Amino acid sequence: MHTRVGIVGAGPAGLLLARLLHLAGIDCVVLESRDREYVQQRQRAGILEQGTVDVLREIGAGARLDREGMPHEGIELLFGGRGHRIDLTDLTGGRRVWIYAQTEVVKDLIALHLADGPPLLFEAEVHAVTDLDRPVIHYTHAGRAQVLACDYVVGCDGFHGVVRHSIPAGAARVHERAFPYSWMGILAEAPPLHHELVYAHTERGFALASMRSPSVSRLYLQVPNGTEPWADDEIWAELDRRLGTSEHWPNRGPITAKSVLPMRASVTEPMRFGQVFLAGDAAHIVPPTGAKGLNLAVADVVTLGRAFASGSAELLDAYSDTCLRRVWRAEHFSNLMTSMLHLAPGQSSFETRLQVSWLEYVVGSRAAGVSLAENYTGLG
Ligand code: APR
Ligand code: PHB
Repeated sequence: MHTRVGIVGAGPAGLLLARLLHLAGIDCVVLESRDREYVQQRQRAGILEQGTVDVLREIGAGARLDREGMPHEGIELLFGGRGHRIDLTDLTGGRRVWIYAQTEVVKDLIALHLADGPPLLFEAEVHAVTDLDRPVIHYTHAGRAQVLACDYVVGCDGFHGVVRHSIPAGAARVHERAFPYSWMGILAEAPPLHHELVYAHTERGFALASMRSPSVSRLYLQVPNGTEPWADDEIWAELDRRLGTSEHWPNRGPITAKSVLPMRASVTEPMRFGQVFLAGDAAHIVPPTGAKGLNLAVADVVTLGRAFASGSAELLDAYSDTCLRRVWRAEHFSNLMTSMLHLAPGQSSFETRLQVSWLEYVVGSRAAGVSLAENYTGLG
């Protein structure tokens, strides 16, 4: 078997790239190790920047997003027990973000793909990519070892993927930061706490009140690394303590999903080796506080899709540098948001006072607000 572009992974990056290539008339194959149900229910973040929404609309994946997605024009920063609104739209001259879960983006892309897309094989586990200048993908499907010869391979296989590990030692540099805390995330059949997202800095640690719909909340609590998911009552009690003020009071309801997510940052440079490219989480991870993960994955594959569609060797050569500029901006912003809002273990009162002063500056100074808002909504 041979294809022009072999895509490893059917997360948002792989699925969107396949759609862009298909629309440009470029032959490709997508190999995904998990089954369709698993991929469609995996819980991830849910904030889409304007640029991401525009791309999804352009490729025909915007109908349900336009019906069910929730445009947001501001966020709330809660500190010292009080909420302060950041008016994203005012501060950026008109930009906003959408709440639409990544699971829904993935469902929409898979439905489009299966209707008229190129081959998409679920339960096709890639083991390695060899010969990076004339790449061959080695995988197992339906119990049989297979090979796929490609002109190009794109590793869209996430942080734990294998394509990155097929690159010879020494050819790539990996820059990493691990955070000394994790997020416990829950999904609850409970109306959102507030009509906008609430990012809370408290003496007990960070909390985030997000949503998936007018009747479903997505809530996160900062917890020590290695924490196992708590009992429901404990989770609600802690949410009350961190989010419950006279203005904000968590609405309780059945918890339908719970998980603990480590917080880390990582960038692999460059994002191209011979005819093999990395895109999305396979190339970089951001801590979720900035809500950038999905948007970076989309921006990577849009850049790559354009380069393939143009047939320009120069654009393909520029792919890595073009993406890495955006990636490092997002890393910087996500790391700032994370360190502004979380309490490190054993943090001194001096550090906590610095964080509060920083938060006061962000809500009190238009210049600081503009900086946060333009990074949060995406720099175009
Ligand atoms: N063979 C085939 N598929 C694989 C392999 C493999 N060896 N390893 C991983 N995969 C698949 C995973 O099962 C997954 O479906 O690659 C896909 C990677 O998808 P994501 O992890 O969703 O990564 P990406 O498409 O880059 O999307 C980035 O995901 O982590 C979030 O916040 C992040 O929103 C961002 C988004
Ligand atoms: C989410 O809704 O899952 C979400 C929102 C904002 C973030 C992170 C996650 O910063």
